[in-house]
This record gives sequence, C-alpha cells and structure tokens, in this order.
Amino acid sequence: MNDSPKRAVARLHEAAGGALDAAVVLGSGLATAVEERFSGKTIAYRKLEGAPVSKLAGHPGTATVGTWGGKRVVAFAGRAHLYQGYSPEDVTYFVRLAAAAGARVAVLTNAAGGLNQAYERGDLMLIADHLNMTGATAIAPRDPQPFLNMLDAYSPRLRRFAKQCTAGSALREGVYAGLRGPAYETLAEAAALRRLGADAVGMSTVLETMMARKLGLEVLGLSLITNAIGPAQDVSHEDVLAASKDAGARIAALIEAVLGAA
Ligand code: HPA
Repeated sequence: MNDSPKRAVARLHEAAGGALDAAVVLGSGLATAVEERFSGKTIAYRKLEGAPVSKLAGHPGTATVGTWGGKRVVAFAGRAHLYQGYSPEDVTYFVRLAAAAGARVAVLTNAAGGLNQAYERGDLMLIADHLNMTGATAIAPRDPQPFLNMLDAYSPRLRRFAKQCTAGSALREGVYAGLRGPAYETLAEAAALRRLGADAVGMSTVLETMMARKLGLEVLGLSLITNAIGPAQDVSHEDVLAASKDAGARIAALIEAVLGAA
C-alpha cells in the first residue's frame, strides 16, 4: 500500500483550515442532498494525488471540505468499486486519505437493497455489522500486521448517537452484506443472504470499514434502502438514484446531527 498522498493531504488541510475531524463517504445519489446542508470548498478528484476517478452516473467525483456539524469534514461524492475493476487499494483510497488528514471518524453511506422483509424503499438502516462477501480484503498483501479485530467494527458509540438523533423517526439497524456486483442478486442469492443473517445488500462499504478500523477510525455505516428485494422488484440503477434523492434530506440531517455529537 502506498504511503499517504502528501499533496492531497495538504490540499485538504488548506481547504479545511486545519486537520480533519471526520470524513463522510456518500453513496449513489446522495451527493445533492448533502450539498444542501454542507457547502464547503470542492476539490475535483483529479486534483487529489492518487485518487481513483470514477465515471459512474451519480458519482460526480468531488470532495467537499469545510465545517459541518461543527467539525472539520471532508465529504467524498463518488467512490471506487471493485465491480469497476478497481483494486482494494483504490477502493480504500478515500478512507486512507481521510485518516492521513487527521480524521478520527468515518461516516460510510451506501444505497442498498432490502433483504429483511420488513424493510421498505426509503428506509434508513444503521449498519450494526457486515458480511464481507466480496472475496477481497482491504489488508495489503504482505502487510506485516495482517490480523485485524473486526468486533464492533461499526462503533456502538456512534450508533447510539444516531439513535438519539433520530428519536421518534424510524431507523432500522441491521447487517449489511457487501458483494462484488455489479449484477443485482438473483432471488436465490437474496434468499441465501437472508439465511446468512443479512438485512441489506450492496456493493461497497465493507473494505472501507476494514481499512478505517485498521487505521483506528470509528465507523458509522448508514444504508439507504432503495429497493425491497423480492419477486415483484425490477431494480435499475436509475431507480436506486431516484430513491436516494427522495431520502437524501433525511440522511443528510442525520449525518449532521451525528457529526455534531461525535
Ligand atoms: N442489490 C445490491 N446492491 C444494491 C441494491 C440491490 O438490490 N440496491 C442498491 N444497491
């Protein structure tokens, strides 16, 4: 794994006015809603040394840096995915950069399919734990310290804050299965994932969480359920983006409240 990209860190520090407190990674379609609450300086990924530049619709590829919820924050709109052919090193770039820039908290958001039969489109789910089913790992080959403790990888403290912040409004809490994708699941795969204990399924986050834990960051994971997986569903990337847009304001408000408390 490369050393931290020093010029990219310097850019973030300059834009934030000092070391960062937290990083937010925005899932498909969530950038617009966050822009309405958080207007920092924007930096295009191509100006961040070593950044993977993603071209998928809904992933503009910009970092927004400034003060949000009273904290110095970078929000990354657009991530690199394994299914695009990116390596685990690329996928974890943003978490590594944030850690190098001083962040102690990582808020990782994603769009996910609902496996739990009680979940509906538009629900927000706190990630309590994950199943890494990507077949990949965030740990670099020949890392001298490869064994990583993944107990309580999703911070109980931050989850408590999130629940307090949303008191009264519905917040699910469950297990996120991270798959490589890019095909959505067959019904047989969805049934198998349910039996393994997953409540939601998506194609990101798990490697970022591993890297964040390796670097000592506290992680809050938030899934926006963009589709309930079942025989009646006909999911498309456009549907996922539309659902994210609808729920974006709620997720942005929750992130702001948690940053304030963290
Ligand atoms: N499956 C996998 N990833 C997803 C889904 C889904 O149904 N919806 C949004 N991301």
